Amino acid sequence: MKLWGGRFTKPTNQLVDEFNASIHFDKKLAKHDISGSLAHVSMLKKCAIISEEDADTITEGLKKVAEKIEKGEAELSEEHEDIHMNVEKLLTDEVGAVGGRLHTGRSRNDQVALDMRLYLRQALVEITGLLLDVQRSLTSQAEANMETVLPGYTHLQRAQPVLFAHHMMAYVFMFQRDVERLKDSWKRVNKSPLGAGALAGTTFPIDREYVAEQLGFDGITENSLDSVSDRDFVVEFLSNASMISMHLSRLCEELIQWSSAEFNFIELDDAFSTGSSMMPQKKNPDIAELVRGKTGRVYGHLTGMLTTLKGLPLAYNKDMQEDKEGMFDTVETLKGALGLFAPMLETMQVKDQEMYQAVRSDFSNATDLADYLVGKGMPFRESHAVVGQVVLHCINQGKYLLDMSLDEFQEFSNLIEEDIFDVLKPETVVNARNVAGGTAKNRVEEQLNKASQLYGET
Ligand code: ARG
Repeated sequence: MKLWGGRFTKPTNQLVDEFNASIHFDKKLAKHDISGSLAHVSMLKKCAIISEEDADTITEGLKKVAEKIEKGEAELSEEHEDIHMNVEKLLTDEVGAVGGRLHTGRSRNDQVALDMRLYLRQALVEITGLLLDVQRSLTSQAEANMETVLPGYTHLQRAQPVLFAHHMMAYVFMFQRDVERLKDSWKRVNKSPLGAGALAGTTFPIDREYVAEQLGFDGITENSLDSVSDRDFVVEFLSNASMISMHLSRLCEELIQWSSAEFNFIELDDAFSTGSSMMPQKKNPDIAELVRGKTGRVYGHLTGMLTTLKGLPLAYNKDMQEDKEGMFDTVETLKGALGLFAPMLETMQVKDQEMYQAVRSDFSNATDLADYLVGKGMPFRESHAVVGQVVLHCINQGKYLLDMSLDEFQEFSNLIEEDIFDVLKPETVVNARNVAGGTAKNRVEEQLNKASQLYGET
C-alpha cells in the first residue's frame, strides 16, 4: 500500500512505479532529508503540535534510519518512489505508527525544495574550496616562473612576450570571479522553504524561523507558491558551473597545445598523463582533454534545466523532479575536474628554455622598436610603417630583429642607435610593460600580492 494510497482502488502499474520513481538518484539527498526532518520534528515538539514523547521517539528513529542508510543496511525501494517516502517508511518500520506524525504540516514539495538547498549548500562550500586549491597551484607556478618569458598570442599569432607568471595569474583572476559568483549565490540558496507546505502554507501553528535557524539558514523564503516552485537557485548554480567549466576548458586547451611537440612549452607529469595502446611513444594529456570535453555536459544540464522550467505553471509540477540528476552530475563533474586540476598544475614542468627560444625566434619585439622610434620623436603611424619594412626585410633575409646589425637598422632610420639591442631583448620588452596590470615583473608581483589577499578573505 502506497503512503498516499487511501483514495486509490488498485495498485499502480509497474511501469508507472519505475517511471515515476526517483529513488535511484535522489537517494543522494538522504542525509539532507533526514537533517531536515530532525529540524522539523524538533519544531513540531517546540510548538506543541506533537507530544514531546512522540517527537523524541521520532528523533531517535530518524537517527537510526540515518545510520542504517549510511551503512548501506537500509532497503531503499522503487515502490516507495522517492527518498522522502522511503525515509518515512523506514522510520515507521523502526518506531511504528507514531512515525506517521513526522509529516504533520509538511509536504514533499517543500521538503524536496529544502533538501535541494541543503545539498547545494554543501556542494558550494566544497567547490569553492577546490577552486581555491586550483588558484593556489596557479599561483605557485607563477611564483616559480617570475623570470620565464613566453610568447603572448592574439589570433593565436605571436604578439608580444609575457611572463609565464602573468599568464598563470590571468586564470587566477578568472577563477576569483567564479568564487565570487558562487559566494554571491549563497544569499539566494541559503533560505529555508520549509513551511510552504504543498503550495499554500499549513494550518498548523508552525515556526518556520525556528526550523531555518536549526538548519543554519539565514532566513526563510517569503512566498509559499514561490518556495515550492522556485528552482532559480539550481539554474544559477548550473550557470556558475558552466562559467567555471568554460574557464577550465580554456586552460585545458592551452595545456594541450603547450604539450604538443609544435609548442613544447610544458610537460605534464607522468602521473597526470596517459599512453596509447598502439603507439609506444605517446604521452597524451587525457585529463585536460576530458575536462574540456565534460564542459559540454555541464552546459547541457544548464540548457536542460532552463527548458524544463520554462513552461511550468505555479506551483509544484512533477517535471521538477528532473532538477536533480543534472545538478548532481554537475557537482560531481566539477569536483572531479577541479580535484585533478590542482595537482596536475602543481606538478606540471614548465620548459622555460624552450619558451625563451620561441620568443627569440619571432617578431614579438616589433612593437618595442616602433615605440623606440616614437621615443625619438617619430609619429607612431610612421614608426609602425618603418618597422613593418624592417620586419619584411628580416623575413626576406631569414632573420629576426636581434640578428640585425646597427648599420642594417640605420638603413631604415638613422634615429636607431646602439641601445636598441637592449630594448629588443625579451626581458626588456616584458619589463617595459610597466603599467598597472601589465606583464612587467613588478606588476606581476602586485598581482600576486592582490591574490594572496583574496585568498585570505575566502
Ligand atoms: N520526488 C519528488 C521530486 O523530486 C518529490 C516531490 C513530489 N511531490 C509530489 N507532490 N508528487 O520532485
